[in-house]
Amino acid sequence: MTTKNLNGFRIEGAVALVTGANRGLGRHFARQLLNRGAARVYATARRPETIDLPGVVPLRLDVTDEAQVLAAAAAATDVTLLVNNAGVSHSTYFLTTDPAAIRAEMETNFWGTLAAVRAFAPALTANGGGAILNVLSAQSWHAYPGTNGYHATKAAQWALTNGVRLELPGTLVTALHLGGGRHRLQRRLRRAEGRPGRGRAGRPGRDRGGSGRGARRRMEQARQEVAGGGSHPVVRRDPGGHGLTHLV
Ligand SMILES: NC(=O)c1ccc[n+]([C@@H]2O[C@H](COP(=O)([O-])OP(=O)(O)OC[C@H]3O[C@@H](n4cnc5c(N)ncnc54)[C@H](OP(=O)(O)O)[C@@H]3O)[C@@H](O)[C@H]2O)c1
Repeated sequence: MTTKNLNGFRIEGAVALVTGANRGLGRHFARQLLNRGAARVYATARRPETIDLPGVVPLRLDVTDEAQVLAAAAAATDVTLLVNNAGVSHSTYFLTTDPAAIRAEMETNFWGTLAAVRAFAPALTANGGGAILNVLSAQSWHAYPGTNGYHATKAAQWALTNGVRLELPGTLVTALHLGGGRHRLQRRLRRAEGRPGRGRAGRPGRDRGGSGRGARRRMEQARQEVAGGGSHPVVRRDPGGHGLTHLV
């Protein structure tokens, strides 16, 4: 999150809700939102007792539990920014992994995001439109051995993002396509493949999205693929140099 102004949407004064905000990137997003002037930040988690950020409003939210999603939307009717960050990867192969594991990835990443979007859309509209940010991956666009189920979920979330943007013209609907970070989900993937960790936390990394030359080539390919669609602007490197990449 490098700016206070996302195409006209101001973080300053916003009321944000972040899913999966008890650790990893979600916790970081919640903290940055507070630091950058959000009026209120609902930090949600499956186990709200694990939320340790001072200044946030903790809420219980398992995005795969419809009743919890509706309860969160009923509790946070003032939301103007929904950050769909919660995500899982179970290191799945299409041909050999138990399909239940692939379904579980889709359940959280795609269906959980869709449930949150549907539940919070009325409040966003009532509050002037606001914004939705879906946290995706460079793997929205390319496969990598051992993460194919995850890749499918991120591609589906990207399609979701583009479709919801059409259905909610008054809301800024965007996706953050991350490359290499140094977070728990990524470390778990590396361990599952028997690969040692590399580098220090917070340094530009080389996850399935990657941040090196190969990743830039894949991002450029993706940019060229979407360029024909017309509705997508360009892929940019994160100016903060955290190895992140995003569509703007
Ligand atoms: N780190 C990277 O390099 C990277 C790269 C590309 C994209 N991303 C995306 O960034 C997002 C965050 O990744 P991360 O690296 O911060 O992962 P992480 O450290 O594993 O954190 C995942 C978060 O999602 C939550 N979560 C999982 N299932 C949930 C559910 N059903 N309902 C609500 N919350 C749930 C977890 O909660 P619990 O504590 O309860 O498990 C945790 O807070 C994900 O969408 C991921 O796909 C990350």
